[in-house]
Amino acid sequence: MGFDFSSEERRQLGYRLIDRIDKYYASLDNRAIQPPADERSADRLPLELPELGSDAARVLDELCREMIDKGFHIPAANYFGLMNPTPAYMAVLAEALVAALNPQLASVARSQFASTLEAETVGWIASRFGWHKPIFAEATPPGLARCDGTFTSGGNEANFTALALAISHRFPNAIEDGIATIGARPVFYASSESHHSLEKSAGLLGLGRKSLRRIPVNDSLRLDTARLILQIEFDQACGFVPFCIVATAGTTNSGAIDDLNALASIAERYGMWLHVDGAYGAAAAFSDKYRGLLKGIERADSITVDPHKWLAMPFAAGVVLTRHPELLEHTFSVASPYMPRAERSGMVDNFKISAQWSRRMNSLKLWLTLRVHGRKSYEEMIERQMQLASQMREWIEESDYFEMAAAQTLPILNFRLRGVSGVPNEPAVGLLGSDSEAEAAHRQFIAELNHDGRYWISATHVRGKSVLRMMIISYLSTAEHLAGLQEALQSAAQRVALHV
Ligand SMILES: Cc1ncc(COP(=O)(O)O)c(C=O)c1O
Repeated sequence: MGFDFSSEERRQLGYRLIDRIDKYYASLDNRAIQPPADERSADRLPLELPELGSDAARVLDELCREMIDKGFHIPAANYFGLMNPTPAYMAVLAEALVAALNPQLASVARSQFASTLEAETVGWIASRFGWHKPIFAEATPPGLARCDGTFTSGGNEANFTALALAISHRFPNAIEDGIATIGARPVFYASSESHHSLEKSAGLLGLGRKSLRRIPVNDSLRLDTARLILQIEFDQACGFVPFCIVATAGTTNSGAIDDLNALASIAERYGMWLHVDGAYGAAAAFSDKYRGLLKGIERADSITVDPHKWLAMPFAAGVVLTRHPELLEHTFSVASPYMPRAERSGMVDNFKISAQWSRRMNSLKLWLTLRVHGRKSYEEMIERQMQLASQMREWIEESDYFEMAAAQTLPILNFRLRGVSGVPNEPAVGLLGSDSEAEAAHRQFIAELNHDGRYWISATHVRGKSVLRMMIISYLSTAEHLAGLQEALQSAAQRVALHV
């Protein structure tokens, strides 16, 4: 009984687990994403609450076996699904260290060194946008914008934080007195392709989900700026108060990047806050070659970046940055007599600048990965994935079975089945007739492709139309994995064609 182990037991358990993890990592190059459909059962007899414990090594073995054998393996090289990466191995080690040391990053006084590392990591990210985060109140070099920011649990919390800042900016008393007292109906804007965390945040912040005006996108899937201006002016004429524009840098469906410079100018013209939701795409700033895709991001008032998406971090790691550091405290700081004060001046306690109180050190994994591999490793990964995405686009464009359904900006591809001729190996004829036909065929196609568990891609809607969606997100994925996927895609399309 009790939680302690002898040194010998700790070492044996630790080695046992690290051997399991090592074997798992060695399998990722070739591992199926999940068991075949007919073996995909998560059914198990529910355990009663264990009153007494069991042998640790046996439980660990059993757990690893079950989670690996029955699991869904996002880290595998053949995962071409959503925005979740293969975790960098140094990040896995950092997570173990964080769990062991359990630094409490709520206040600087109890985590002086850890808080400094976290601040440094925030500063490293900010530097890629031409922003500077002072750690000990040092001066900001000329030409850079002073900023601050904080790690979050992910993009959802980062977007929530940014919206809270935008409210504080426009309605300084709202945090203290409540939205109900501002005597206005605030509204904000984002594209029809923007992420649903915005609605969630608007509801939770008391704005109401309907305060989000979703503006249609143009043919490039970027927010249509002419429609935006019309909507802002219409809202103003109706007595609403437009206070924020949310640009997306890398939409969830397609990876489209809004015209950040144009949106920054519109935000300036109408006195609004500009938030860039770059949860996925802002990581392009880590590549010198592709950071230009984010032109204008430096003009934003706040930015979301999720290291647990394109920066190969395990959950959880989001970041929100702002060029208005003072607003962070205005929005999140509360008095707390029991929080010890830091002796060293200049560093701000995290509990004063974020929605979290107790705070896990979600930054160490990125700090350690950057320290060991360097920014250039990310640059190489991003450039390789962009290259693979272009190859994939060319393959789709030349395919008899598929065609591109949207422009490709980042390593995300939206494509669709061509009209299904019913004759395998024959060029397909024309587009699928109606939306519902396309939707049904895509559903069937996804079931066929994902049936044996080897690969995993998904379907979604873009501009209201059914599309197939895949992306290159694992740093382990290579041209060989892509060739395997292409074969599987073609063969699934042939099977679907046979059934139509
Ligand atoms: C563009 C965008 N913003 C925000 C989020 C939410 O991020 P998280 O899942 O880390 O909370 C996502 C998630 O996919 C996203 O794609």
